[in-house]
Amino acid sequence: MLRPFSNKNLHFGFILLFAYFGYVTANHCNFNVKLKQVLKNQGFHRNISYGIVFNTDDDNCWLYKDCVVGLDQTLPHGVYANPDELSTLRRLKKLNAVPKTRINTEMPAEHSYPTTTYITERIKDCKVHVWLPVHARYHLATPGGGMARNTIGPPKLYLRCPDQRLDMCNKAATPVTFLCNGSSKEKCSWKELPYTLLTDTLVWNIPIGNMEHYHAISVGTALVIAIGSLYLIKAIHEHKLVTMPFNPYTSLHN
Ligand SMILES: *[C@@H]1O[C@H](CO)[C@@H](O)[C@H](O)[C@H]1NC(C)=O
Ligand SMILES: *[C@@H]1O[C@H](CO)[C@@H](O)[C@H](O)[C@H]1NC(C)=O
Repeated sequence: MLRPFSNKNLHFGFILLFAYFGYVTANHCNFNVKLKQVLKNQGFHRNISYGIVFNTDDDNCWLYKDCVVGLDQTLPHGVYANPDELSTLRRLKKLNAVPKTRINTEMPAEHSYPTTTYITERIKDCKVHVWLPVHARYHLATPGGGMARNTIGPPKLYLRCPDQRLDMCNKAATPVTFLCNGSSKEKCSWKELPYTLLTDTLVWNIPIGNMEHYHAISVGTALVIAIGSLYLIKAIHEHKLVTMPFNPYTSLHN
């Protein structure tokens, strides 16, 4: 028989209460976000690829339905994202990325500053996959040449959901107001989320021109031109002597 204040029922009540809070904290607030950041391709034009997984438990995917992820990626001064290329990709609906800072694509690395690009994407089945085309800046030649080490740090990760669904979870995070996406001027409220980075920090070694090679090449070029010119002058001279037997000067001397 159930008596409202029996020890047994109190016990049961506590269990229920703990189970409820356990559910709320484990299922609603344990975001358990994992991110992989990989630099693809070779050469001066490469591709940063991001794979993000929310939770590992597929039962919780409804929680992120219609939520959007915003990645805030800062690039070091030797690397840049091309605003024109990003605008083309937005128009073709291939990628929603927009420069957050002014990006000058012409400047050599030595005269540039780090820049930031914002990438947004809707979460589908607890997952997001986005990429960002990046380019190496020209590095001014130095004596000895070598490689310029460019370290690309992990992005900041923001989340935005269409309702107040996740507000109770990351109360500590103050909302940031920024563009909803690259395709509209409208601003949205975002919250930063912590995550676990599963990959190593990206390092891109970009070749620097060698000034000594430059001097060697200049001297070589000058030599080739000089010898070639001398050879040509000689050839023209010989040609003249052969084809002009009745040279007026020669006749005069005779
Ligand atoms: C970059 O990589 C992604 C896959 O990670 C691919 O879908 C995309 O087409 C690539 N972009 C370029 C410009 O190579
Ligand atoms: C961008 O955001 C606006 C405003 O919230 C929305 O109407 C539009 O559908 C979004 N576009 C994309 C590509 O997500």
